[in-house]
Amino acid sequence: MKPGPVTVITGATRGLGYALAHELAEGGGHLVTLSRQPTPGLAELAQTHGTMLTEILVDLVDASALEQAAEQMAKVLSKSNDRQCRIIHNAGIVVPIEPADQLLDFQSIRTAFDVNITAPIYLTGHFLAHTRNCPDRRVMLISSGAGRHAYGSWGVYCATKAAMDRYAEVVHAEGHPNLRVCSLAPGVIDTGMQAQIRQTPESKFPAVGRFEDMHRQGMLANAAQTAHATLKLLASNTFGHKLLDDIRDNA
Ligand SMILES: NC(=O)c1ccc[n+]([C@@H]2O[C@H](COP(=O)([O-])OP(=O)(O)OC[C@H]3O[C@@H](n4cnc5c(N)ncnc54)[C@H](OP(=O)(O)O)[C@@H]3O)[C@@H](O)[C@H]2O)c1
Repeated sequence: MKPGPVTVITGATRGLGYALAHELAEGGGHLVTLSRQPTPGLAELAQTHGTMLTEILVDLVDASALEQAAEQMAKVLSKSNDRQCRIIHNAGIVVPIEPADQLLDFQSIRTAFDVNITAPIYLTGHFLAHTRNCPDRRVMLISSGAGRHAYGSWGVYCATKAAMDRYAEVVHAEGHPNLRVCSLAPGVIDTGMQAQIRQTPESKFPAVGRFEDMHRQGMLANAAQTAHATLKLLASNTFGHKLLDDIRDNA
């Protein structure tokens, strides 16, 4: 029997990442999480389903902690080149939400870039370097419609997600062997991030009414259902055929 895949995921504590990690923990193989805290209930779930679990605790904005986490991840991957190797860059932050003339806090801009694009590029580098002999390797970047359309006050968020899309195109263009890559917009999901968006005053985020309406009308996607569709796509033979994909086109 072929061993199950090894899947690395960032930001598994809440929201979409939590749902992805929980479904992965039920699926066998080896799950590696990179999060600031352990994911509630994950160890028990993995044990019940015979899934090997490595929880690496790391704040993605802490450069030296991230270096150590990348080394730990690399050790697992180096021993797993006989199986499918996957990485899902899920961790993300939407703040700062400010119009361009009020984006004045350097640290908050840098933090968003660190989490949303610097860490994915850095971890992908290590992933690629340590899976060279793997017959099937897959990189999934959780992007956003915000990377493909401009929203006022999301200058930082839109820029980081657009960067993710372009980075996916570059990695694909480099032609790494046995590699599929996809930057995926996951839709509008009922998570803490959406609650945070709705809490932003209209004076700071003019489009807030659109997200309030979607929430009021029950139009937000469920995190577990989105995770299920996302993992189905990741495992499918067509994964990577569409470099910039949208989960809503895969229903
Ligand atoms: N929700 C939506 O409607 C929506 C739409 C489009 C795209 N997305 C994208 O989907 C992904 C997941 O979003 P979500 O809605 O699930 O967000 P969420 O509920 O806010 O969860 C974000 C996750 O990222 C982690 N994270 C943030 N900063 C981190 C750091 N410095 N180090 C390590 N982990 C960190 C959080 O961990 P902590 O618990 O430690 O904070 C949490 O696990 C994001 O990339 C987001 O941009 C979401």
